[in-house]
Amino acid sequence: MREYSIAAIPADGIGPEVIDAGTTVLASLEKRMGDIKFNIETFDWGSDYYKRHGVMMPADGLETLKRFDAIYFGAVGAPDVPDHITLWGLRLPICQGFDQYANVRPTKILPGIKSPLANVGPGDLDWVIIRENSEGEYSGHGGRAHRGLPEEVGTEVAIFTRVGVTRIMRYAFKMAQSRPRKFLTVVTKSNAQRHGMVMWDEIAEEVSAEFPDVTWDKMLVDAMTVRMTLNPKSLDTIVATNLHADILSDLAGALAGSLGVAPTANIDPQRRFPSMFEPIHGSAFDITGKGIANPVATFWTAAQMLDHLGEHEASERLMRAVELVTAAGILTPDVGGTSTTKDVTAAVVDAIHSSNV
Ligand SMILES: NC(=O)c1ccc[n+]([C@@H]2O[C@H](COP(=O)([O-])OP(=O)(O)OC[C@H]3O[C@@H](n4cnc5c(N)ncnc54)[C@H](O)[C@@H]3O)[C@@H](O)[C@H]2O)c1
Repeated sequence: MREYSIAAIPADGIGPEVIDAGTTVLASLEKRMGDIKFNIETFDWGSDYYKRHGVMMPADGLETLKRFDAIYFGAVGAPDVPDHITLWGLRLPICQGFDQYANVRPTKILPGIKSPLANVGPGDLDWVIIRENSEGEYSGHGGRAHRGLPEEVGTEVAIFTRVGVTRIMRYAFKMAQSRPRKFLTVVTKSNAQRHGMVMWDEIAEEVSAEFPDVTWDKMLVDAMTVRMTLNPKSLDTIVATNLHADILSDLAGALAGSLGVAPTANIDPQRRFPSMFEPIHGSAFDITGKGIANPVATFWTAAQMLDHLGEHEASERLMRAVELVTAAGILTPDVGGTSTTKDVTAAVVDAIHSSNV
């Protein structure tokens, strides 16, 4: 029996609904496989915890998480707590504290799900976006001066380090190399941002020499949105900065049918710390408590977690089950269906147990 300890942090909004769905599916995989066991411990950290304790997680939160093999995360954000407090109080300290510098965001159109793009179906949009996850525009550098006065100023400084850019480029080239097309697009904005982004481009060029079998090109981030929309087939693996990839991956999720199907893995490639797996969506205040949150992104990120843990067979089994269910039209309203979170979860559990999956 192979055992894995998983820290579940459902947190806010629809987070608890989708993580509940995810742990149900993991339990059914456990039964189906017979030789793996997930010891899941759930933490009540998040905005309600903040309202009770004045912090999003305890001071020793990272110490507590260190002993787990992986973290399964829902979403943070509450209507009555400022977003920078929720994000910087929980999700970012975990990503940055555990140096999860590679954020891997696969997107494809699943069978049965309709892209808003005309004449684009499964196979026409199949990307992996690699997001730099430790520095760049989200490094937290900057400050406020003359607070409250007319001359008040706020600065937000993007930090690009040679170490940080080199390691994410290498990760992205490796990812491209592992995929059939061996093709990488490096997203930049070096026309307008002439320091960090020019270094980003130079390092991409340097690292490319280590991967002669990978073809690559470069796109300005604004033009990239056009290419993603008008020519999705021309893309495969994509690498971008923390901010650029954050924006582009929401667009990618929408083009693949819904934010509710888009997963993300925050990876420490050196495996010094647990990596964290989550859907890319947020708390979705508009549908919280209605029982209609799409759990597919949370299932897909569980499949990424299984891959990271070396459980490739379980990961493939889970994704096959999800694709069977979407193909059968058992879909939540965000992707045009009438099913609830529980309906989709039950269908995936059934598919996991059916003998041909
Ligand atoms: N990683 C995170 O925890 C994360 C990411 C993004 C936003 N947020 C936070 O979430 C809160 C709401 O942010 P937002 O509205 O900009 O983004 P959001 O992702 O929560 O919602 C955007 C839209 O997508 C829909 N949606 C998202 N996930 C869905 C799902 N699984 N099924 C069906 N529909 C889904 C929502 O209903 C909403 O209409 C904010 O506090 C924000 O800071 C957190």
